[in-house]
Amino acid sequence: MANGSKLENNDNTNNISLEGKKIKKIKNKAADNPDQFWSECAKNLVWFKQWDKTVDWNPPFAKWFQGGKINAAHNCLDKHIESEIKNKAAIIWEGENGESTTLTYNQVYCKVNQLANALKKLGIKKGDRVTIYLPMIPELPISMLACARIGAIHSVVFSGFSSQSIADRANDSKSRIIITADGGYRRGKTIPLKDITDDAVKKSPHVEKVIVVRRTNKEIAMGEGDLWFEDIINQESNLCESEWMDSSDPLFILYTSGTTGKPKGVVHGTGGYLTHLYNSAKWVFNFVATDIFFCTADIGWVTGHSYVVYAPLMHGVTEIMYEGAPDFPDQGRYWDIVEKYGATILYTTPTALRAYMRHGDDIPNSFNLSTLRLLGTVGEPINPEVWLWYYNVIGKQNCPIVDTWWQTETGGIMVSMCSGIENIKMKPGSGTFSLPGIEIEIVGEGGEKVESGKKGYLTIKKPWPGMLLSLWNDDERYKKTYWEKAPNRYFAGDFAYVDKDGYIWILGRSDDILKVSGHRLGTIEIESAFVSHQSVAEAAVTSKNDEIKGETIIAFLVLKSGFVSSEQLNREMNEHIRNTIGPIAVAEKIYFVNKLPKTRSGKIMRRLLRSIVNKETIGDITTLEDEASVEEIIHEINQIKKYI
Ligand code: PRX
Repeated sequence: MANGSKLENNDNTNNISLEGKKIKKIKNKAADNPDQFWSECAKNLVWFKQWDKTVDWNPPFAKWFQGGKINAAHNCLDKHIESEIKNKAAIIWEGENGESTTLTYNQVYCKVNQLANALKKLGIKKGDRVTIYLPMIPELPISMLACARIGAIHSVVFSGFSSQSIADRANDSKSRIIITADGGYRRGKTIPLKDITDDAVKKSPHVEKVIVVRRTNKEIAMGEGDLWFEDIINQESNLCESEWMDSSDPLFILYTSGTTGKPKGVVHGTGGYLTHLYNSAKWVFNFVATDIFFCTADIGWVTGHSYVVYAPLMHGVTEIMYEGAPDFPDQGRYWDIVEKYGATILYTTPTALRAYMRHGDDIPNSFNLSTLRLLGTVGEPINPEVWLWYYNVIGKQNCPIVDTWWQTETGGIMVSMCSGIENIKMKPGSGTFSLPGIEIEIVGEGGEKVESGKKGYLTIKKPWPGMLLSLWNDDERYKKTYWEKAPNRYFAGDFAYVDKDGYIWILGRSDDILKVSGHRLGTIEIESAFVSHQSVAEAAVTSKNDEIKGETIIAFLVLKSGFVSSEQLNREMNEHIRNTIGPIAVAEKIYFVNKLPKTRSGKIMRRLLRSIVNKETIGDITTLEDEASVEEIIHEINQIKKYI
């Protein structure tokens, strides 16, 4: 095997630390003097002014590199413009319809500056919020970097979300501008992004202007406040000074699902976040000048923010950005892209791999994948058999796999093998160990450390530079969600255990958050959307294990009197979810039931519903208000109004 990494069972090195000597040394340094360690890490960035204090930790609020002045766009672009990287490809973009284009660092730099000037002319200042609702086209990172350049806070909304979702986010952040496109392509269809945005603007009183990128050339209606992206940037100079930001000034808000109906605005700062990204990318991916990095994540989610936009550009590597679906026009799309552009690192999701694996080895085997040197996964647990398929069929046993655990809130990777430090024995399905400086502990209900092999809650013991600053306008919710469940620690909301060799195994969420095709959705958010339909009295959402998507959404609905279940109502309900959240939240199955199982204190027992739909043993139901309701639901599920 290349690079010295070993698969479990290949060599049994009992009694030897499996974590690796080099990484242990770095970790010890970080543990002995965290301030000095993170300070060294921050020196890899370009600062306008050096910080006075590494971290101002006022639990649970951290201000990293206090007193330091920095700009994210400057770190991604300007530093390369003065080097031989200037004319190197930054982004190789491929549209779903086969179009492609390559932008050099200098070209991205010029466009970012032009847009930054245009935004300034529109009155956008440091601290203002800009909502970005774009498909995976180069104008998306360009827009983010233009905001960063002038100190505006970007809030990217995934282009699969509905107009209601845009409006909710634009209202919460009080965005003054939305940047969108005339449309986007997904599985051959055109998504009318401008129409969806127009709908959102009607419900977003703070939005003054909509900037529109021409992507599909379809006829669209341009209203009074609408401007063409190309028109406004063409009038501008390609020089715009970077704003000197305080290290802990917000760089962006990214809304993500939590355990209540309302998505929360995760706020990331500048200097700390970039320090975490720069170093985690170096440790995990070991970027080198010749790399062609292919991260398949959509920028609408955190992986795209961190490892499509900020980390690779800070490192000056060439990256591939792909607009569309992995299975369009056929089941070889990612492999075709790897071959065509000679990708050296592929970073993707278990869902995509499971879908490809189902179609057999012949398809990937018909492509030349020999340029790959490293493979990565993210977003959900990877089944060992899928891991092995990735390793054998895609990597031809030559590429180590980095299974990276992290979250929107953590900013960057927290658990992974660090291929850039040293490869170690890999265990399919385990992320291996935490990154340098990151101290993870698995705890029980009372916050006590659990022994190895025992399942518990994943917590993080010390602040780290990439951690969220807070939740937008909601410090209380920030404290309650992350810092009160385990004493003095960050509570991640995941179940995990540590094995006898110290390897970390992530076991999935411990709360009401689902991972559908790796996308994060809150059960209560989906329930609220169902209940906003005129016919629904009550809703309970749970998930069923799924071979491809990891989990799928199952809904139980109690109708208001006067409404009866029907196939028509089922369709209407899914349409309603599509319009309130987006197609990713559509239920796999809807069951219309007479009542929901609740505890005596009135809480819906989603855990019970989950066991029922997955045909698992039903655990303790002594707190159930009415035990008979379980029988009733099982009976209903077995015989009943089930619409697919
Ligand atoms: O449950 C964990 C799962 O994804 C959650 C975070 O979701 P999100 O904020 O959307 O960020 C996803 C991309 C970083 C986590 O709480 N998760 C993420 N990576 C892994 C994972 N579960 C298992 N293994 C992973 N490698």
